[in-house]
Amino acid sequence: MLPDSMKVIEISQPGGPEVLKPAMRATPVPGSGEILIKVAAAGVNRPDLVQRSGHYPPPPGASDLPGLEAAGTVAALGEGVERWKIGDAVTALLPGGGYAEYAVTPALHALPVPQGLSMVEAAGLCETFYTVWGNLFMRGGLRAGETVLIHGGASGIGTTAIMLAAAKGARVLTTAGSDEKCAACVRLGASRAINYRTEDFVEVAKRETGGKGVDIVLDIVGGDYVTRNLTALALEGRLVQIAFMGGVRSVTIDMAQIMMKRLTVTGSTLRPQSVAQKAAIARQLEEHVWPLLGGGGLRPVIDSTYPLDQAAEAHRRMESSAHTGKLILEVGER
Ligand SMILES: NC(=O)c1ccc[n+]([C@@H]2O[C@H](COP(=O)([O-])OP(=O)(O)OC[C@H]3O[C@@H](n4cnc5c(N)ncnc54)[C@H](OP(=O)(O)O)[C@@H]3O)[C@@H](O)[C@H]2O)c1
Repeated sequence: MLPDSMKVIEISQPGGPEVLKPAMRATPVPGSGEILIKVAAAGVNRPDLVQRSGHYPPPPGASDLPGLEAAGTVAALGEGVERWKIGDAVTALLPGGGYAEYAVTPALHALPVPQGLSMVEAAGLCETFYTVWGNLFMRGGLRAGETVLIHGGASGIGTTAIMLAAAKGARVLTTAGSDEKCAACVRLGASRAINYRTEDFVEVAKRETGGKGVDIVLDIVGGDYVTRNLTALALEGRLVQIAFMGGVRSVTIDMAQIMMKRLTVTGSTLRPQSVAQKAAIARQLEEHVWPLLGGGGLRPVIDSTYPLDQAAEAHRRMESSAHTGKLILEVGER
């Protein structure tokens, strides 16, 4: 029997981490094509912080509760769902609502918990794996033997991108803000990590590639990185922009660089994409990436875990940028 109400963490008003407050809400009911997940653990992502501060409203129809990914067991099935049965262990991309004991999502956005991974590890997979696969591989076309420069290598996105690119046979250069974070990136599979506070990433990228430049840049910083990224790219290179953590979204670029080097500039955001578009990423992940996880040798990097009640502490840690990898909320009984 499902309870009528559940414990959640809600955004009581736009503001700092202290606005995240425990509350009770009605347990959601899965609609057609959706599943209800009894959440064991939920991932914390940068976009949750932006939503909390009032600058990233949930899309129409999505829960107003934060939380874009979770792992747990299937607790109820909406009409027409055939892939899953009650009790299946799943990890899923959510339209929102992960900071709660139960969450609904399209059945097509759930994947099995990979063998050998805990619920905590599984909870930290979907937001970054969907984003990295969709951008670096589907959009950017990264191939084995190419060199990729990944900015923010110690972030949730960055740790995932390093692991996946290295596992698929690419050579990985990455940037991070401390020597300690750089060392963690090398342990994950980067062949060279650049401390951007003490080294110029364009110079290092050129040197490491014999002057040729890198084939792809995955960037979360934007601003003055854009021009430097274009300079760091090789002929036929691709710049994939997925965030502008530097805060600057408008830049002036030299179009001649794009023409002379035949560059491609692209990017995307995950959340506004249609159910079908996200499902297409999920199918590719299941085929090309899930076999590599757990028993396959890859595991997500978990920085720290917090009980659901302490979501504000998790947000404070993420805001400090002291972490490497993922922050996870433990929701179920431990
Ligand atoms: N396009 C999409 O679909 C999509 C999906 C998910 C996330 N994102 C975006 O991707 C970015 C990373 O997300 P995440 O969850 O991986 O974040 P995260 O784990 O909190 O990592 C962010 C890291 O970026 C680095 N950084 C670089 N420039 C920074 C700046 N100006 N201010 C603060 N930190 C800076 C920091 O590490 P250092 O100390 O090494 O600098 C920080 O730890 C976010 O902007 C997020 O919104 C985009």
